[in-house]
Amino acid sequence: MKVCGNRLLILSLILSWLAVPGAVPAADDGSRVFQELKCGLCHKPDQKGAGPNLQSIAQAYDQQREGLIAYLTGTNEARMGIAKPDLMKGSLGKIQQRSAEDIAALAAHLLSFKPR
Ligand code: HEC
Repeated sequence: MKVCGNRLLILSLILSWLAVPGAVPAADDGSRVFQELKCGLCHKPDQKGAGPNLQSIAQAYDQQREGLIAYLTGTNEARMGIAKPDLMKGSLGKIQQRSAEDIAALAAHLLSFKPR
């Protein structure tokens, strides 16, 4: 009986742990998507790269999560004035194959670079 009780406890702990990440699209998940899609090749936290750095993206889209998602999903044009749409085209295509949750998490991750 005691073993059985422990098993139930462990099972419920595992289940509650599994339930958490699905519930909230956290910046952590966005960091995973960012790595999987290799965005970091061109977007560094605070240095110049082929694309604007993450701090400047977070500033340009501060308080505008919906606008950022609209850019990532192809509804809005780029607004930062870099004017190199061809370099982002392939990545935008890859982003648009991901789920809405992944894209929301990716946006949260990008916005988390806002300098304090
Ligand atoms: C090959 C290099 C490259 C890769 C890889 C890349 N980007 Fe970009 N990114 C750019 C360039 C260049 C721009 C400027 C685009 C423009 O002016 O239209 C840009 C612009 C952006 C912008 C700002 C757009 C604006 O409003 O001006 C965001 C946000 C962004 N990228 C996110 C991402 C994410 C997320 C990924 C990974 C899925 C990614 N990028 C992968 C090069 C890249």
